[in-house]
Amino acid sequence: MSTPPAAGPVHTADLVVFGGTGDLSMRKLLPALYHCDRDGRLSPETRVIAMSRGGLADADFRGKVDAEVRDSVPVDDPAVWQRFLGRLHHVSVDVGAANHPGWQHLAELLAPHEDRDRVFYLASPPRTFGPFCRELAEAGLVTPRSRVVLEKPLGHDLPSAQRINDEVGAIFDERQIFRIDHYLGKETVQNLLVLRFANAFLEPIWNSLWIDHVQITAAETVGTPGRRGYYDHAGALRDMVQNHLLQLLTLTAMEPPAQNDREAIRDEKVKVLQALRPITGTEADRFTVRGQYVGAGDMPGYLDEPGSTPPTESSRRVETFTAIRAEIRNWRWAGVPFYLRTGKRMPYRRSEIVVQFKDVPHSIFPGGSPNRLVLRLQPEEGIELHLMAKEPGAGEVTLKPVPMSLSFGKTFTARVPEAYERLLTDVLAGNPTLFMRRDEVEAAWRWIDPILDAWRATPALPEPYPAGTTGPAGAHELLGRSGRAWHEEEL
Ligand code: BG6
Repeated sequence: MSTPPAAGPVHTADLVVFGGTGDLSMRKLLPALYHCDRDGRLSPETRVIAMSRGGLADADFRGKVDAEVRDSVPVDDPAVWQRFLGRLHHVSVDVGAANHPGWQHLAELLAPHEDRDRVFYLASPPRTFGPFCRELAEAGLVTPRSRVVLEKPLGHDLPSAQRINDEVGAIFDERQIFRIDHYLGKETVQNLLVLRFANAFLEPIWNSLWIDHVQITAAETVGTPGRRGYYDHAGALRDMVQNHLLQLLTLTAMEPPAQNDREAIRDEKVKVLQALRPITGTEADRFTVRGQYVGAGDMPGYLDEPGSTPPTESSRRVETFTAIRAEIRNWRWAGVPFYLRTGKRMPYRRSEIVVQFKDVPHSIFPGGSPNRLVLRLQPEEGIELHLMAKEPGAGEVTLKPVPMSLSFGKTFTARVPEAYERLLTDVLAGNPTLFMRRDEVEAAWRWIDPILDAWRATPALPEPYPAGTTGPAGAHELLGRSGRAWHEEEL
């Protein structure tokens, strides 16, 4: 799908992380960078400069990382850990505070290395993207070798995404802008294209003649404790579908690109988004489902998560679960539903793409079931092809579905890298293939916005589902109406 992560160190860079002491940075970015360092993928001079309002000196920040990150990563050589800590710096800055001395401090830190690649990673709320880019430009810190990384969510609808893209685009060229979707860094997601386009047997059957439907699920056991402030305004559709699930859909459905090239792949993905049949007005009742978890056993409901403020109108209306029946209007996929589903507080953590093939045209054995290809992103990344086999024994032929499985963890001895490791390596190397282009993000919002409008227009609240269950009844009816069922219901 793209060039593999460089075996050795990529270019020396100064990586400046806005939101550098925040949750994403401490839980994902810093552990991923440590892994890159440990595997020899950071050049000795590469530095990581965390920007936050924290008022920390370098030593305080290093102490914080030592206390909060060290236990979550394998430190087999303390010297490597110390080397990693030595790369870290901290600069205090406040968005919107004019002439904040932090910009001067950052400029002094970067000045001696003007010829280095600079990566400005915005792991801060999207409202800060434009202002931070402007401040960087005004401080004279944006060089031709600079790149900017934008974390999701990129806006909350099409106009806000366009505004952010305009603001960032006024400072950086599109080739310098890396919009991250961490699902694209997952091993199975990259393997999906290899599976499709480096093996001859799948492509001829990858269409509506052979495939009955596709299910894309991202189920999580976690709720939203401490995240209500964000989640009340996001909901599952914006938080997971607009980005992660639609990315999985595009990679599953795209046409073979002419070459393994950053633009060729992204061109094909955009075409899929543009071919999605809009879901507007009352169609949303038929093709979409919203749910919100309510307390069950010792698990609180969405509205009573610890640390929550009293429920508001918007928190009552927010969906923590959604399921959608999408259709792609082109020759390959006409008539093949793509069912998307994601939810918090489900009974298991599982992300997968299930390609359900049609049944044999004429069955001579009783009890068979159609083939199914399962691409698992988590918990254990791998691929399973469910085939029909004969159960051993004399007498009547009894069929049994058996999985042919490929577990990446078991097949390849190398450690499967975390998504952020792969993506950070690509950013540092300047490879944008696994990042979203402006037109891609905007095409995704163009499909999402009418669903949001339809949901806003209805007085109905999301259907309640007890925490720890597979979502509201409507999600099962969505497939049940056409005689189908979600994958796990048939396991
Ligand atoms: C994030 C969402 O983008 O993805 C979170 O904001 C979600 O709500 C997370 O929990 C899921 O990521 P993963 O890699 O654990 O599936």
